[in-house]
Amino acid sequence: MRRLFAGIWRNKLRILGALFAVALVLLLLIQLVPYGRDHDNPPVRLEPTWDSQRTRELAVRACFDCHSSEVEWPWYSNVAPLSWYVQSHVDEGRRELNFSEWDLEQDEADEAVETIRDGSMPPWYYSLPGTGREFSDSELDELAHGLEATLPASGYPQEGGEDGDGHGDEEDEDHDEDEEEDEDEEDDDD
Ligand code: HEC
Repeated sequence: MRRLFAGIWRNKLRILGALFAVALVLLLLIQLVPYGRDHDNPPVRLEPTWDSQRTRELAVRACFDCHSSEVEWPWYSNVAPLSWYVQSHVDEGRRELNFSEWDLEQDEADEAVETIRDGSMPPWYYSLPGTGREFSDSELDELAHGLEATLPASGYPQEGGEDGDGHGDEEDEDHDEDEEEDEDEEDDDD
C-alpha cells in the first residue's frame, strides 16, 4: 500500500516538474518578442508653463512615467510579459495626454485635475507600496491644485503650434516614427 502511494506521489512530482520546465521555457521564449523593449523617449517638444517648480516635481513623479517623453522605465519593464503591460500603458498614456508635447493639442488636459481627484490617476498599481511612487493625500491635493493653476494658464490647446520656444518642430519625424508603433492597440487594461 505504502509503495503504491509513493509511486503516485513520485508521478505527481514528475508531472509538476515537467509543467514547471515548460513554463520556464515559455518564459524564456517570450523574452525574444521585440514589443516593449525599445524604451524610447522621443525628444521633449514643449512642456506646459508650470505655475511652480513644485507642481512640475509632483507631476514628474506621479504622471510623467506614462504621460511624457521622459519615462523612467522601471526594471520590470525589461521582463516580458510585464514589459508588454508597461509599454502598452505608456503608449496609451502618451496618446491621451503628453506633458512633453504641449505644442500639440491635448484634448484630455482638462480632465487631468479630475482624474487625480477621483483617484483614477495615477493608476493604483503604479503606487503600490514599495514602488517608491506612493503619494500622500496632501501631495495629490497639492498636485491637483497645481495643475488647476498650470493648465488654463498655459493656453492649451495651442493651435497653429505657436510654441514660443523656437524648437521642437524639426523633431517631427522622430515623433511620427513612434506613433506608428502605437498601432497595435492592446486593450489589456488592468
Ligand atoms: C502607470 C501609467 C500612468 C500614470 C503614472 C498616469 N497615467 Fe494617466 N493614463 C494612463 C493610461 C494607460 C490612460 C488611458 C487609459 C485609461 O483611461 O485608463 C491614461 C489616461 C489619462 C487621462 C485621459 C482621461 C482618462 O481618464 O482616460 C488623463 C487626463 C490622465 N491619464 C491624467 C493623468 C495624470 C494627471 C497623472 C498623474 C497624476 C497620470 N495620468 C498618471 C496611464 C497612466
